[in-house]
Amino acid sequence: MIGYSYEVRHLKQHYDRRKLEQEFDSLPEASPIADIDPFKGDIIAMVGALALDYLDLDPGDTLLDIGTGRGRWAVAASPYCKKVIGIDISRRMLEDARSNVASADVENVEFFRGSFENPCEEANLSKIGINKVVAIYSLHHLTDPMKMEAISNLARILKRPGKIVIGDIMWFDDPGKHRDEWEDVYFDDSDTDHPASISFMREVFQHSGADETEIVQIHPLVGLISTTFL
Ligand SMILES: C[S@@+](CC[C@H](N)C(=O)[O-])C[C@H]1O[C@@H](n2cnc3c(N)ncnc32)[C@H](O)[C@@H]1O
Repeated sequence: MIGYSYEVRHLKQHYDRRKLEQEFDSLPEASPIADIDPFKGDIIAMVGALALDYLDLDPGDTLLDIGTGRGRWAVAASPYCKKVIGIDISRRMLEDARSNVASADVENVEFFRGSFENPCEEANLSKIGINKVVAIYSLHHLTDPMKMEAISNLARILKRPGKIVIGDIMWFDDPGKHRDEWEDVYFDDSDTDHPASISFMREVFQHSGADETEIVQIHPLVGLISTTFL
């Protein structure tokens, strides 16, 4: 069984954005949950690399990376598409992502402050023809009602044919049965984490009008959802 606090939190309408921003604004440079290295060999590196495969990037694509962190997936995707936009709620993460891009010497990646709930906080992204969206280990920070709304809003601005690929913590099994693996998947049951069950994630994408949905279990607590909008 997971804790009562988790069950209650999970049903909340909204998250505590200020707390989450503070958490990522003060994240140590060496933190594996927002590294600059896409080849780290941990569960995030595994799910991120798989997500890039599922995105099936094309030189004409415009990719939106939500919760970009220090921008590792934006940079890794950049040689395979026309343009990558990374957004994040944390100013510190965005600063680090910009220096990451500068040292990687790539020219088709830009970062803006924005969120799942409002990708266009700093720049109007609705008219630039985003046809692919990726989010690695970021969606689980939203409460379930927020996930439902955010994915439907994203589906509205997505150019067709388009894809949304999510790699994240999601429950394929009772997390209480895997307590000794929480550290390996970077879940600590803190009040800024709200992972959903795989059945709820499926509902989220059905509700958004996705035409095809593929789900890949990577671990009993981590998976990938790849959806196509025709
Ligand atoms: C665990 S880190 C992952 C970063 C990156 N995707 C990676 O794999 O290295 C989660 C990121 O999501 C961002 N984040 C959390 N909630 C968000 C929201 N509502 N909208 C956009 N970004 C968010 C955090 O600031 C943080 O940079």
